[in-house]
Amino acid sequence: MSDPKPFDPLAGRDPAAPLDEEAQYLFEDAVRRMPKCELHLHHEGAAPPDFIRQLASEKSVNLSGIFDRDGGYAYADFPDFLRVYEAATQVLKTPEDYHRLTLAVLEQSAEHGVIYCESFLSPDFCGGGDVSAWREYLAAIEDAAGIAERAHGITLRGIVTAVRHFGPETAKRSALCAAETAGEFITGFGMGGDETMGHQGDFAYAFDMAREAHLKLTTHAGEFGGPESIREAIRDLRVVRIGHGVRAIEDMALVEEIAARGIVLEVCPGSNVALGLYPDIAAHPIKRLQEAGVNVTVSTDDPPFFHTDMTGEFVQLNKSFGWGIPEFCALGHSAIAAAFCSEPLRARLKKQMETN
Ligand code: ADE
Ligand code: ZN
Repeated sequence: MSDPKPFDPLAGRDPAAPLDEEAQYLFEDAVRRMPKCELHLHHEGAAPPDFIRQLASEKSVNLSGIFDRDGGYAYADFPDFLRVYEAATQVLKTPEDYHRLTLAVLEQSAEHGVIYCESFLSPDFCGGGDVSAWREYLAAIEDAAGIAERAHGITLRGIVTAVRHFGPETAKRSALCAAETAGEFITGFGMGGDETMGHQGDFAYAFDMAREAHLKLTTHAGEFGGPESIREAIRDLRVVRIGHGVRAIEDMALVEEIAARGIVLEVCPGSNVALGLYPDIAAHPIKRLQEAGVNVTVSTDDPPFFHTDMTGEFVQLNKSFGWGIPEFCALGHSAIAAAFCSEPLRARLKKQMETN
């Protein structure tokens, strides 16, 4: 019979005692292997730079100016990050490209123990918001997800995503694509992009359409917008999860409200540090939010852009806050409880978390 809990090389140790090299290695290996659930991952943002370079060379697209000398993505700040993200996305032109992308992304996630992942899929990049084109991209993504599930044991679900700086009318087209394809695979609707543009409420029509199609709702808020952006998301879009949401910490009444309503935060600590929100993980509010009763989960956002992965996120949380395998198990269970998936799948994932 399998062990009901992941192996914990730190069990019984003094948490304040520093780890020697071997203990650190064993710990990181145990963290990498433990089953994980990731709720906040942008499909294009998870594209390895080598993958994008390969497609650019196949299609003779010039992508100079988006890579650094080591071959990683290069950007100066958040607006520049969005520019580089969209430039890289230009080489993803066909359903076949998204098939290949999906295989690459899921293989990479599975290497870090991810057994369930929700990724943000944007009809704007997959067929320009046209429903029948979107269906073709989606079929390719689902086919690749099935292959990855059989090969690596990772399950994918999709959250259709509007891009905020493309405006409310474009968001309505994305919501229509979402509503037309809602089901076992497309389970949610959300919004990313430049949070400093307009108000959450400008997108209420799109979110209402998605809600009427029984999709679960999330939006990026409290990342580059302050607490008011989170209040608007709760009031005007009626989301049940929030992407990031970390700047709620600037308003403790709001923190209390988030905790009381049971709204789940999709926290991406490495992303927040890489994009300059906090100087380092030690300064990140995830622990303070959790201690205030907020239901937090951990994700990577756009892992190659931020030189991170799920193992790296957890290792950094260990270094800054002393969190270990039991805390990471609890975060995994919170993520499964908050997943936008069917109840039979949730029950299966819960079992897998407990028996791997
Ligand atoms: N799109 C991809 N990553 C994002 C982020 N961190 N914030 C807003 N939009 C995004
Ligand atoms: Zn994000």
